Amino acid sequence: MAILSLIEQCRSNFYVAFFAGIALSLVIIRFLSDAHKVRQSRNPSVSTTVESAVATKKKDHVPGQWTPSTFQLPKPAPFPDWNIETTKPLPYRAFRHGPIYHTTMGLRTAQSDDWIQLDNHYPRYHADKARRLVERGSKCCHTAPEAWPAAVELLEELTAYLPARYPTLFRRTAVGLDNIWSGESFNIVERPLKEDPIVMCGRLVQDDLALMIERPDGQYHFLSGAILLPGFWRLEDKIGMPLSEIHTSGNVPQYKEKLELGMSSFFKRLKCEDLYVRNNYFIQVDDDLAWSWSIGSEDDENHSWDTAVENRAIEHHMFRSERQSLRRLPKTGAVVFTIRTYFHPVMEIASEDYVAGRLASAVRSWGDDVARYKGAPKYKDVLLEYLDAEHQKQLDRGLDLEKEEDVRKYPW
Ligand code: HEM
Repeated sequence: MAILSLIEQCRSNFYVAFFAGIALSLVIIRFLSDAHKVRQSRNPSVSTTVESAVATKKKDHVPGQWTPSTFQLPKPAPFPDWNIETTKPLPYRAFRHGPIYHTTMGLRTAQSDDWIQLDNHYPRYHADKARRLVERGSKCCHTAPEAWPAAVELLEELTAYLPARYPTLFRRTAVGLDNIWSGESFNIVERPLKEDPIVMCGRLVQDDLALMIERPDGQYHFLSGAILLPGFWRLEDKIGMPLSEIHTSGNVPQYKEKLELGMSSFFKRLKCEDLYVRNNYFIQVDDDLAWSWSIGSEDDENHSWDTAVENRAIEHHMFRSERQSLRRLPKTGAVVFTIRTYFHPVMEIASEDYVAGRLASAVRSWGDDVARYKGAPKYKDVLLEYLDAEHQKQLDRGLDLEKEEDVRKYPW
């Protein structure tokens, strides 16, 4: 009996030792593999898997420092049949029916081919920008020294993208690109460059451009911009500011409650592979694309809707809608914010099916804060009276309200 129990004890000790050995080996293997991954990611000459690189980047991220990514924006397909005379602006009608106006970031993903949108309004935007550069120059455009590499990178990206997307407008050259329509040549390799690279970028597209760069405080700061057609705000008031102050200084409604946290985490997480867009809309009561003088002179510190003339005739009401895009540049990690303004007389868009009714409903849905921000007290009565009458005309000629969603899905 004693011998039997001795054998039993030895056997169970063997099992304990065996399983403990396996557990210990697993721990050692895991430790060695982690150590290997860390070594790899710290030594750029050793190739790493994408997965481990991303994981390590997030864990090791030091605010204000960027590890260059190897991502390259895919070469875009040519915009189908693009023509500087006949390609109309995309018909963004980015407002929603009431009864409630929801303040959200309103971001949607987009295809990288659609990054920059150009159309037959190009000549007017190009001319307005050129005039503003002569008249106001550094009041509208600036690049902080620390943002210079990012502005150069944006210029390189546009030089690769634009001739591929709009081959009848731009031609790639050995040193940069030519604008075939305007006759301008851009040399992007000479040093020093002829102009601030963000100015060169601004001349190429219809958009205003802003570069946001993370500083060691972990916040994204507005450090380079060509803000030539802003309508209601001035680069000189916002340059250098972090994202939050840009918005709080402008009293953007519900920024703290509804936007601040989401925006801050969006900026931290944005990947080079992503392209996001959002649209907004305003009413303007003069037809100056660059600066809405109705709210006061651009050089007047106290410009505001409060000083604007009330109840201008509907002929002066313009629908102003921005299509904004966000992407991250791979080499410098800067976030590019593009602001493309679409600008049409209210009377023109209100004649489109459903638009008058929906815009009237949207304007009525603004809470007091949004109405004040958008200047509604100065034009609401005239605008709503006109939109209601146009909507009624559409109903009288048989417009079927049930079909609205099929015909016009946001943002159209
Ligand atoms: C996720 C990105 C962003 C979101 C969701 C956002 C959201 C908003 C919103 C809701 C407004 C009020 C007007 C509107 O409805 O559009 C606004 C205004 C504004 N935003 Fe942004 N924004 C973003 C990024 C930026 C960036 C990168 C800049 C950099 C220059 C910027 C500059 C401004 C300015 C200058 C105004 C006008 C402020 C004023 O009235 O003084 N925004 N933004």
